[in-house]
Amino acid sequence: MPHNVPFSWIFLLLLSSLVLTAECAKPLKILGLFPHPAKSHFNFFHPILRGLVDAGHSVDVVSPFPDKRAPANYTNYNLASAAYINIIDLNVVENRNQFSHFNDFMALYAMGKEACNNTLSSKALESILAHPPDYYDVILMEHFNTDCMMGVAHKLQAPVVAMSSTGLLPWHYERMGVPIIPSFLPDLFLGHSQQMNLGERLLNWVTTHSLNWLYKLFSVPAADQLLRQKFGPGIPSTGELVKNTSLFLINQHYSLSGPKPLPPSVIEVGGVHIQPPGPLPAQLKRLLENAKHGVVLMSWGSMVRATTMAPAKRDAILRAMSRFKQHFVWKWENDTLPNKPDNVHIMKWIPQRDILAHPNVKAMISHGGLLGTTEAIHCGVPILGTPMFGDQFQNVAALVQRGAAVRLDYTAITEDALVKALTKVLDKSYKNNAQAIAHSYNERPQKPLETALWWVEYAAETGGAPLTQPSSVHMSRFIYYSLDVYLVVLGALLLLLAIAREVKRVCCAAKEESSKTPSNPKRKQK
Ligand SMILES: *[C@@H]1O[C@H](CO)[C@@H](O)[C@H](O)[C@H]1NC(C)=O
Ligand SMILES: *[C@@H]1O[C@H](CO)[C@@H](O)[C@H](O)[C@H]1NC(C)=O
Ligand SMILES: *[C@@H]1O[C@H](CO)[C@@H](O)[C@H](O)[C@H]1NC(C)=O
Ligand SMILES: *[C@@H]1O[C@H](CO)[C@@H](O)[C@H](O)[C@H]1NC(C)=O
Repeated sequence: MPHNVPFSWIFLLLLSSLVLTAECAKPLKILGLFPHPAKSHFNFFHPILRGLVDAGHSVDVVSPFPDKRAPANYTNYNLASAAYINIIDLNVVENRNQFSHFNDFMALYAMGKEACNNTLSSKALESILAHPPDYYDVILMEHFNTDCMMGVAHKLQAPVVAMSSTGLLPWHYERMGVPIIPSFLPDLFLGHSQQMNLGERLLNWVTTHSLNWLYKLFSVPAADQLLRQKFGPGIPSTGELVKNTSLFLINQHYSLSGPKPLPPSVIEVGGVHIQPPGPLPAQLKRLLENAKHGVVLMSWGSMVRATTMAPAKRDAILRAMSRFKQHFVWKWENDTLPNKPDNVHIMKWIPQRDILAHPNVKAMISHGGLLGTTEAIHCGVPILGTPMFGDQFQNVAALVQRGAAVRLDYTAITEDALVKALTKVLDKSYKNNAQAIAHSYNERPQKPLETALWWVEYAAETGGAPLTQPSSVHMSRFIYYSLDVYLVVLGALLLLLAIAREVKRVCCAAKEESSKTPSNPKRKQK
């Protein structure tokens, strides 16, 4: 029975791999420190924390978002006092201007200081700090607007795996040894793609460097001061402690946000939060199946309250929608929507990921939040992006560059503008481009969650993955930018110039001398 041979081989292989994984996977004690009170950020961290528990490790999580269905070995340590950032009023979005990203920075700085202060004085952290140093094998934390938690990691003496629910912020590059190249790496706050004109590159250069500098000027001393209050004056500055970050897991993927030169310690795990699609509620399923011209999904995410929109703008959107043959499913947080046309269906909560997986969804109107755009692109659905704040401009810009999105800023929405933009995005070319990105996004050697778990375990096993760290992390900026080399080269050039002048002077003097001396009679004859 020849077919039995491969079968027994497979059986043997399975058995040996089981034995191997059982040997390798030593259960780790992992600490998660996530004080920033934004749920959309935690939605990226949580699947990784749960994944680690499912892989047999135990995780203690300090955050304002307790897992209400926490399995054994997932222990919640609640930060109850944090001011949640759950709801965003659209009137705030209307009042942005050219320099809003500097205001955004100051707001982030203030929030970071507050989260640091709250966490350091919390009961949750007190119970964590009762553990002796070396109790945890590895510490996971968010790197965002404060590095306060690096002080806690320093006390607990464990390798740090940082995470970002967005891309890198301007102050994240140096600590990981990622080169800052403002000619094509757009600053997260500005919202350009990798293709910028001279004016945009100038603004990007100034913004990237000035925000990096402002962080050192404001955020680092603020965290240091609070840490010294808590742990005494001996604690090193967070500006130094961050250089001890072993790995950085970021919610990015090159196909979606653009390829970047990253060292092996910075790992793209965008898409970790995407679960296999679930069944749709019967009514929604019928709607999706019966819509002859397809369905457009409209959702501004979990934080924005669409109901806070000015009535004039709301009516303009509805008039625009009534001009299409498609049906619209709109995440609208009220039972009623005045002047709603028949082809618009409102739902207070939507199973967004499951809807996007339906083949009859033609496009998504999205604010450009990273989790939502990721889900849409994963399903090959093109996007009409109406960015409002934060990294949304950049997320949309990157997709516009790839021909899978049309951008219409929230502030620029009118009936005609929306009709024009939506007509464009419903064109077949956008669907094709979105599907091409989906292919690159979905076809990876390893699922993003597996990648994340592999690297966390690697950091624990190797005591902080020291071989992945570029030496540039510990260089002064003077040396890093080769300014010393330029000085030497300049010195050598000046020296050569001086020598050349000297040689010329000596030669000329000799020539003059020879022309003054009585000439050779023989030569004169010639
Ligand atoms: C919890 O972790 C411990 C080791 O840290 C392990 O022995 C135990 O089986 C785990 N429990 C579950 C339910 O996974
Ligand atoms: C930290 O919080 C306490 C109250 O919990 C407050 O009195 C103190 O001023 C805060 N410190 C800073 C630097 O914000
Ligand atoms: C840096 O991290 C390692 C573990 O990866 C730890 O042993 C060391 O004490 C840390 N250094 C500082 C200054 O915290
Ligand atoms: C829902 O809309 C009605 C009518 O416009 C309004 O009176 C009510 O306050 C709204 N409810 C919420 C929760 O926004």
